[in-house]
Amino acid sequence: MFPPASARQDADAPIRATDSDASLARLSAVKKGYLTDPFIAHFVPRAQSQPSRPPLINIGTTIRSESIDDLVESWMKLCILEGLKCQIVSLGAGSDTRFWRIATGSHKDLVVKYIEADFAEVTAKKAMTVKKSSTLMASLGDPSTVIIGGGGTTLSSPVYNLLPADLRKPPAEGMQAVIELLDKDVPTLLLFECVLAYISPELSSALIKHFASYFRDSAPLAGIVYEMFGLEDSFGRVMKNNLKARHVDLQGVAPYNTKASLPQRFLSLEFTMAKALTLFEIRRQYLSEEKSKSMSQVEMLDEVEELDLVLSHYAITWGIKIPEGEKFKSYREAHSPWMNWELHTIGSSKSESIDSA
Ligand SMILES: C[S@@+](CC[C@H](N)C(=O)[O-])C[C@H]1O[C@@H](n2cnc3c(N)ncnc32)[C@H](O)[C@@H]1O
Repeated sequence: MFPPASARQDADAPIRATDSDASLARLSAVKKGYLTDPFIAHFVPRAQSQPSRPPLINIGTTIRSESIDDLVESWMKLCILEGLKCQIVSLGAGSDTRFWRIATGSHKDLVVKYIEADFAEVTAKKAMTVKKSSTLMASLGDPSTVIIGGGGTTLSSPVYNLLPADLRKPPAEGMQAVIELLDKDVPTLLLFECVLAYISPELSSALIKHFASYFRDSAPLAGIVYEMFGLEDSFGRVMKNNLKARHVDLQGVAPYNTKASLPQRFLSLEFTMAKALTLFEIRRQYLSEEKSKSMSQVEMLDEVEELDLVLSHYAITWGIKIPEGEKFKSYREAHSPWMNWELHTIGSSKSESIDSA
């Protein structure tokens, strides 16, 4: 027998609470001057008086955020190269501000649909915050086209759409409202920023597969996943136990014990290319020297072993599924920009184009 609905919802409260951790971490990195985000303070209660997060969190959040921004930006540029528009679907979006950063940046006219989904409690809070803020509303278009529905849990506008969804539901049911908003012929990017770890590997594969079959013959489908991995060592066991004590189960990380296993998430679902980088590698090889130095100085970091250990347990994985068929043949060639979707140097002024309007 299933527990009553209220008991099930309460069981999910600790998972929903991870959104506050993420937004407080982002706010802290913004206040330190590492990230530029004029929108995050709208989503954090008493933003002015929130204390800074510890150095490891500030640095990790900055590397993660700048890397994903860079990958999103390069993916948008792939679409521009082909003269195409694009769609972005962020699942487990929480209080993420990426839509507003893109909507006030140089690629604002490129995105024809930006869809966010999360638990209903999270979307209801976000819909209310957006509706109450003239700054956030300004990016949504004519206010008469912005509609709050579903008992306050949905927000629809011509481009930006916020929908309640439980990602653990069979995708044909749970993702129906998302799929209905998407244009099958427009390249689409799926964002899973720190969410798949909370869902069983079978369910997250089913979720990606559902989108892959929808776009199978019609348009490239890209995905970016950020999460922890390699948690079978002593560091990982401590992390899992700490979260278990908060009633958060990292069931989704089990198949991903090595970096090499990460691209398999996409390749096993017949994606055409997939790559992964740990935050440790990104800090060493992709973070600009000036940013690395300035963060280490501000955070008074003189020994980096602990930072390295933490960063080597988080990774960003990205992949593209290019449809079969003549129309997309050039996309699939080894030297095509789609097959060479890469991370660039992050943390220099050049790499802040999504963040800065
Ligand atoms: C760590 S937060 C990350 C939020 C945002 N992606 C970011 O990076 O700032 C995880 C988010 O995933 C959502 N989430 C986790 N499991 C979910 C599920 N089964 N269905 C819908 N949302 C879920 C949580 O509610 C939370 O907002």
